[in-house]
Amino acid sequence: MATETPVILVNGAQWGDEGKGKVVDLLAQEADIVIRAQGGDNAGHTVVNPQGEFKLHLIPSGIFNPDAVNILGPGMVVSLTGLIGEVSTLANQGLINDRNLLIDSRAQIVLAYHQQRDQNCEEALGDSRIGTTGRGIGPAYTDKAERIGLRIGLLRNPDRCMSELAKTLTILKGRSYPGINETLLSPELYEDLIRESSKMFGESIGDSLPVIRAALGRNNRVLVEGAQGTLLDLDFGTYPDVTSSNTIVGGLLVGAGIPTTYPHRAIGVFKAYQSRVGNGGMPTELKNELGEKLRNKGQEFGTTTGRPRRVGYFDGVAARYSAALNGYTDFAVTRMDILTGLAPLKICRAYQSEPYDYFGQTSFPIDDSELSELNSYYRSYNLCPWDQDISGTKNIQDWPMQALEYLRTIEYIVKLGAPKSKLWLVGTGAHRDDYINFYDIW
Ligand code: IMP
Ligand code: MG
Repeated sequence: MATETPVILVNGAQWGDEGKGKVVDLLAQEADIVIRAQGGDNAGHTVVNPQGEFKLHLIPSGIFNPDAVNILGPGMVVSLTGLIGEVSTLANQGLINDRNLLIDSRAQIVLAYHQQRDQNCEEALGDSRIGTTGRGIGPAYTDKAERIGLRIGLLRNPDRCMSELAKTLTILKGRSYPGINETLLSPELYEDLIRESSKMFGESIGDSLPVIRAALGRNNRVLVEGAQGTLLDLDFGTYPDVTSSNTIVGGLLVGAGIPTTYPHRAIGVFKAYQSRVGNGGMPTELKNELGEKLRNKGQEFGTTTGRPRRVGYFDGVAARYSAALNGYTDFAVTRMDILTGLAPLKICRAYQSEPYDYFGQTSFPIDDSELSELNSYYRSYNLCPWDQDISGTKNIQDWPMQALEYLRTIEYIVKLGAPKSKLWLVGTGAHRDDYINFYDIW
């Protein structure tokens, strides 16, 4: 029997924005199917390719491969206004055809009342706000878990969608949300949007599972594109400063409907340093001029909200935790070029106490209050900085020894968490070709 082509799952190993977009864009060129499994338009990545520069929030990166089918998977929460906007832009570029977009009927609809609840909740939390993207992600998953959410499949029958919406809004009206604008709870407000979405997407909505199963049966290449990162996972991240979906590899399998027993490779994407948007602990954060320099050089500003990202040294404790939790088979280290000229250069090897030393047991603070207290109390390796520009290099043998040592230190840490994992790819610049890969993954 021919060996099965493994499904490839790409997972963010930190707090999101690890450069998954570049990795996924690269793999999507060779994929037959690309699936987003969780999250919604809280995600965002910029893709730079010969067709131009694009900001994607909902649509998988396979949209730039004319032969790939792109699936908005069952585990997603999808803003209709966001989807209309994004699909229109891509359609104007000639990138959407009647075969390359499939929206799974099970995905949840996000509407303005979700966004408003998200924003109101943040206001009510005051200083302990999460710093969400304000896209209604939490409330949409809340409604889903409460079983009062609307699934995208309803758009195939807009009348029924309207009546289900009316039921949900009646339930929500009976509750007092602080500061909720009651007009956002009238079904009529959404009627045009629902009918327009139904016309625009009706034909693209359906059951993705037979499509995926058939592709697996043909030994096609199936790619699952994770959104956000491991440390933002609803259960395993730094709760409550997390997103509302399971971002870890297991969550990707569930959200895409891939059998857990099907052969797969789990790629962890690590950025060569740390970044975080939104609140919560970040022990290695650089709140000084060096941080400012790193942020500007790395252009660390949110794709979705434009917010400056918090930046800091590579966190080895968190990296080992992600590697062990996800059981990576392969990993990538992105943006090595950004660290050129950064001095002093460090990697965090332990927080202040024993359990969080990565030589000790694999351990990580359970929730955010604990992590926040650790700020700036970490122990670190001091690494030698380098000045030689490495962007666009094609061979690590051309690198200064210090850069090589830095990379090997990350590799060592990741392997402590996932001993069988292998370093697959290193990112060396913004362009599509700026990477070095050590072997073919498919
Ligand atoms: P939410 O997902 O909008 O509810 O936001 C919850 C937390 O996740 C906040 O800290 C956000 O900044 C963060 N977050 C959500 N999506 C992303 C992403 O794609 N990249 C980085 N951070 C994200
Ligand atoms: Mg992003």
